[in-house]
Amino acid sequence: MNIKASRQKPVRVMAIASGKGGVGKTNISINLSMAMADLGKEVILFDADLGMANVDVLLGLHPLRNLSHVIRQECELQDILINGPNNIRIIPAASGVKMMGQLTDIQHAALVHAFDDVVEKTDVLVIDTSAGLFSSVLSFCAASQEVIIVVCNEPASITDAYALIKVLHRDHQVDRFRVVVNMIDDREEGRLLFRRLVRVCEKYLDVVLDLMGIIPRDQNIVKAIQKQRALLQTYPSSPAAIEFKKMAQAADKWPGAKRASGKLEFFLECLIDGHTAEQAGVRS
Ligand SMILES: Nc1ncnc2c1ncn2[C@@H]1O[C@H](COP(=O)(O)OP(=O)(O)O)[C@@H](O)[C@H]1O
Ligand SMILES: [Mg+2]
Repeated sequence: MNIKASRQKPVRVMAIASGKGGVGKTNISINLSMAMADLGKEVILFDADLGMANVDVLLGLHPLRNLSHVIRQECELQDILINGPNNIRIIPAASGVKMMGQLTDIQHAALVHAFDDVVEKTDVLVIDTSAGLFSSVLSFCAASQEVIIVVCNEPASITDAYALIKVLHRDHQVDRFRVVVNMIDDREEGRLLFRRLVRVCEKYLDVVLDLMGIIPRDQNIVKAIQKQRALLQTYPSSPAAIEFKKMAQAADKWPGAKRASGKLEFFLECLIDGHTAEQAGVRS
């Protein structure tokens, strides 16, 4: 089923972030994108993990070009989009971001325009970010309408998620977050973990946290990764896949995605300043 969503609808931009690495962001980005596509949405998945791009690796794709080629005017943004499962389109990570700092104003404006053009035809833009407090991650989150924080049941995951929420709140005025609890053995454990994060955030910060989903620990995810296929392709009835579908249905009903145009400039700004990734922060 692929009912085309109305072109009148604004783009919903979701950044998937975490304090700590290895908590499942890339898997969630891929499978959530696919589940939203199953609902008839046009989805673009932007691999914005500047340090460790792996959407393509997880899906067994081999992009020949990325954003750095667009910047060098070797091709158009449309040319670097690769087709993923369920007709999602993927913007491969820009491994050559450092040189983007040398953009002329005209090149910069052209890129912003190219990006807007592509995203204009899209319902959902999912951004898979790097772990850590890199300025690029913060900019992506600050520019998105929905910031989705992924945590799992490890002390470092919770403390690092708190640190990320704190910085996003303090320096970027983000005051609302959605939380996905991943790799959980039973739902009660997931709910407790979410409440623990809410308690610490409410105590020290003026932010609102919504529980978006609790994804079970599911060996099918590991098996799918070994096959370089997405979970939703290989094991669509597995427990985690069912949760991804539920999350997509819930996200589809979230209120008021504002127009993303204009805001997309932030994404490009932070790509252009990609070198700051190395200067900024901790990467776990
Ligand atoms: N729900 C899950 N159940 C079991 N293993 C998972 C689950 N989610 C993620 N994983 C495992 O965790 C690893 C890291 O996931 P990944 O999406 O690459 O994390 P991140 O993008 O946050 O670094 C995966 O390779 C997979 O083995
Ligand atoms: Mg990742």
